[in-house]
Amino acid sequence: MNFADSEVVGAILTGAGHHIVTDLNEATFMLINTCAIRDNAEQRVRHRVRELRALQTRRHALRIGILGCMAERLQHQLMSEEDNLSLVCGPDAYRSLPQLIEQVRGGAAAAAVELSTTETYADIEPVRLGANGISAYISIMRGCQNYCSYCVVPYTRGRERSRDPQTIVREAHTLFQRGYREVTLLGQNVNSYSWPGTGFPELMDAVASIDPLLRVRFATSHPKDLSDRLLEVMASHPNICRCIHLPVQSGSNHMLQLMNRKYSVEWYLDRVDAIRRYMPDCSITTDVIAGFSGETLDDHQATLDLFHRVRYDYAYMFKYSEREGTYASRHLPDDIADAEKTRRLNEIIALQGEIALENNRTEVGREYEVLVEGESHRSHEQLFGRNSQNKVIVFDRRDAQPGTYRHVRVDTCTAATLIGTLID
Ligand code: 5AD
Ligand code: SF4
Repeated sequence: MNFADSEVVGAILTGAGHHIVTDLNEATFMLINTCAIRDNAEQRVRHRVRELRALQTRRHALRIGILGCMAERLQHQLMSEEDNLSLVCGPDAYRSLPQLIEQVRGGAAAAAVELSTTETYADIEPVRLGANGISAYISIMRGCQNYCSYCVVPYTRGRERSRDPQTIVREAHTLFQRGYREVTLLGQNVNSYSWPGTGFPELMDAVASIDPLLRVRFATSHPKDLSDRLLEVMASHPNICRCIHLPVQSGSNHMLQLMNRKYSVEWYLDRVDAIRRYMPDCSITTDVIAGFSGETLDDHQATLDLFHRVRYDYAYMFKYSEREGTYASRHLPDDIADAEKTRRLNEIIALQGEIALENNRTEVGREYEVLVEGESHRSHEQLFGRNSQNKVIVFDRRDAQPGTYRHVRVDTCTAATLIGTLID
């Protein structure tokens, strides 16, 4: 989401006559887009800001600003704590960046942190910073009001609001015409996308109908409202990728209740079964938190059991990090010792590593259509791409070109990568 936001910021700034440079030594302004979801994300930003002090003593003109959730969460406090910062700007205030930059150039510090109930940046055509020219993100909604008890996002990104579907379809269409072959529709909870006459399934249907050669992905789904209707639409479009990110957070009903996730393990498993019923070849990935408030060894074991049961293709795994201002920080003690959180997390990571490797081993011998993305990191002679399930496949390049679809047979694998051979 931050990546997509930075592309909007890029468009706003270039529209105001600024230039984006790739070499920091040429920059007069550096804007850091930030995440506040866990303390270590914030500490990394603080570390980076402090590191930049050295550069600023050599280059007096360099100004530094903080964008995104950390700016929203800490506001002016951030500038008093990090005195080499000149600007803070929250996620709904990016249109004011050109004025804020002028203000800083005039010698003042500048801040804009108002949240909005309507801002979606719908009319702004993002500057494609990640430009591989093949896949792009499209933000379809902003904000979140699920108020999971551990999560700071509802406070830093504000109320949920959806973007006009016409502007979304137009953006996807323009990307396709420019040669892009994959779009990922983004929102904190895409299943609650809502516009008069258009829910998320209808939006997916419209974007997938642009062209069969345009792959469509999305993130993130909240399990509480992953509907059969969406699964039906997915199953009816081969170009909607067979991959669903379904953050579970915990395998224990007691934890899920304290987390205010609004579903049970039984409900979650029913959704997993539904996905596999509609699309037996669909990959499923998740997010999980180890060591949330009051998590017992039985709760933790329930998470491991769930991982055994679902056999995720990939998981993002975290230690619980208490965030100021959340329900949990006010009412639920952060009572699992850090070393114990780490132990539980490592246990989940080890299990998931085994499962991913076993899953990948079953892929050996299978053939997939792969969207070729670019050169493999390991060798100039090899390219990599992804299959519909979002698994990376590396293969000898022969005559293959990035941005095209090719068929690859899987010969071998690691836990993270499939290795194969072109068969067309
Ligand atoms: N501590 C640890 N992980 C968190 N997440 C969100 N808030 C926290 C927190 N306070 C994780 C959830 C979410 C992912 C984006 O980040 O797993 O799905
Ligand atoms: Fe945070 Fe929950 Fe919203 Fe996800 S759904 S952004 S975890 S509050």
